[in-house]
Amino acid sequence: MKKITTLLSLFITCALSQSALADTSPNDLIKKGEYLAQAGDCTACHTAEGGNAFAGGYVFKMPMGSIVSSNITSSKKYGIGNWTEAEFAKAVRQGVRPDGSQLYPAMPYTSYSTVTDEDMHALYAYFQSVPAVEDTPPDEGKPAAKTRLLFPFNLPGLMRVWNFMFVSDKPFTPSPDLTPEQNRGKYLAEGLGHCSTCHTPRNQLMAEESSQFLAGAPVDGWLAPNITSDKISGIGGWSNAELVSYLKNGHAEGKGQAGGPMADAVEHSFSHLTDSDLADIAAYLKTVPAKQTTGVTQTSWSASRAEPINWTTYEPGTGANNAAGYRESSQTDGALLYDSSCAACHGANGQGTDDHTFPSLTHNSAVGSHDPANLVMAIVAGIHRKGADGEVLMPAFGEQQQDIHSWLTPAQIAVVANYVTQEFGHGNAHLTEAQVNKITSGEPDSPFLIRYAKALAIVGFSVAALVIVLLMAFWIRKRRH
Ligand code: HEC
Ligand code: HEC
Ligand code: HEC
Repeated sequence: MKKITTLLSLFITCALSQSALADTSPNDLIKKGEYLAQAGDCTACHTAEGGNAFAGGYVFKMPMGSIVSSNITSSKKYGIGNWTEAEFAKAVRQGVRPDGSQLYPAMPYTSYSTVTDEDMHALYAYFQSVPAVEDTPPDEGKPAAKTRLLFPFNLPGLMRVWNFMFVSDKPFTPSPDLTPEQNRGKYLAEGLGHCSTCHTPRNQLMAEESSQFLAGAPVDGWLAPNITSDKISGIGGWSNAELVSYLKNGHAEGKGQAGGPMADAVEHSFSHLTDSDLADIAAYLKTVPAKQTTGVTQTSWSASRAEPINWTTYEPGTGANNAAGYRESSQTDGALLYDSSCAACHGANGQGTDDHTFPSLTHNSAVGSHDPANLVMAIVAGIHRKGADGEVLMPAFGEQQQDIHSWLTPAQIAVVANYVTQEFGHGNAHLTEAQVNKITSGEPDSPFLIRYAKALAIVGFSVAALVIVLLMAFWIRKRRH
């Protein structure tokens, strides 16, 4: 049995690396590297808004300080032009620079650690071909942005300990229980696709919780939903074709649309992948162990309103959506706000348009979700996405200086969101203005250890100092005797 398993994984490894062996010409190698860089979405973090491709300067604001992405063009001075392939591989897989300094895990090396040697070779060839940008990462015109972390996260050696605890140096091992296609999907999803960096919840030390792999997590105010194979909480009820459509185009009819960070990932990364790679990712997702989300008893996309709203007998100002204190009395009501702000595109009964350019709000995972975060974020931030089948635009109602439509206050966003889930979802959002503000602040409660790290580290150092003093006292006494 063991022999068969070994043979099978050997076969799968060969199948995975076969395409690499076929590429011999330098141009093909660079093309392949470019494709892999798209699969890894390197551009998302290494290109600042309006900046040169891969010149870095994107700033990540985190509870423990800010981290700035590096210039990874072929510049010998500011980029990685002088790096050998082995040095490049070590940085991408293990987060260690040639000088031995450690990267912070805002760079997803925890996922990239499984990239094969063949693929790393192609990635290296591609990045050495990226035109050099001779500058440190810009910071909106100011002198070079620098990574600045708060004490104690800036202590040298701290990341070494973290990496030792949480970074695997195991190469990708195809699972003998999966088909070659599912294994290819696993390789892409776990590695370059780094789905888990957004979809897996993190522990007290900000590392992904492997026992909750892809079980759903907050990102910048949005919720990256549970995408395990669970039929109720996850994507177990989606067809493979729906998953492929979602990744490629950013929407799957009757299931959902990609907004926020997922829209970016679709636009810059997944929409560029081949249909066969996307099909393999979908096939693999169906094999990810099911995880139930506590309190979720119905699928987010199944919500359908049986009865259309009776607008002739509808009386504005009645019902639970009423709230006082808006700029105009005509906008104190969820139904009226929906009618004036949303119905033009999504239809009076939330049915959307027949061609799905404007999606139905019933059978919509953001509306039917147990957690209203994505509904609120879509209203506040809008949606702008280029998928493989075209561009979509929903205005951002949270932005106050727009002339094309009237913006909504957080309190109005709360009532319109409540109305939308009541009419087209499972009716579970009972949002207040304060909750809308909390969601849009994008700050989930930071894990205890991060919030209190400073205090804990000071306590830790004091204890360590105390221990040293005691030991010294003990040693001096012993020498005296
Ligand atoms: C989610 C954001 C993100 C993505 C995606 C990402 N990186 Fe990074 N990368 C960073 C950040 C942030 C740093 C700097 C970390 C630090 O300073 O500790 C970095 C640093 C690096 C470095 C070290 C360079 C140096 O001198 O500091 C290399 C090499 C690198 N990334 C390559 C890649 C490649 C190749 C890809 C795609 C396969 C990629 N990155 C995708 C965020 C990202
Ligand atoms: C940068 C963060 C990020 C990355 C990387 C990412 N996702 Fe997402 N994903 C999200 C967010 C946020 C949403 C919710 C989007 C919305 O509702 O508008 C989402 C939604 C989804 C959905 C729809 C789920 C539902 O119930 O509506 C699927 C399927 C999905 N992602 C699959 C993937 C796969 C597969 C990968 C890796 C190949 C991946 N995602 C990588 C952030 C991310
Ligand atoms: C100008 C047209 C337009 C208006 C007005 C509009 N939307 Fe949208 N909406 C869109 C488009 C386009 C999409 C994305 C379609 C796609 O991804 O294929 C969308 C997507 C959504 C989604 C799915 C978001 C996700 O992340 O999954 C929700 C929920 C939504 N709209 C609710 C609303 C609400 C509530 C309002 C009123 C406050 C509103 N929309 C106003 C055009 C509009």
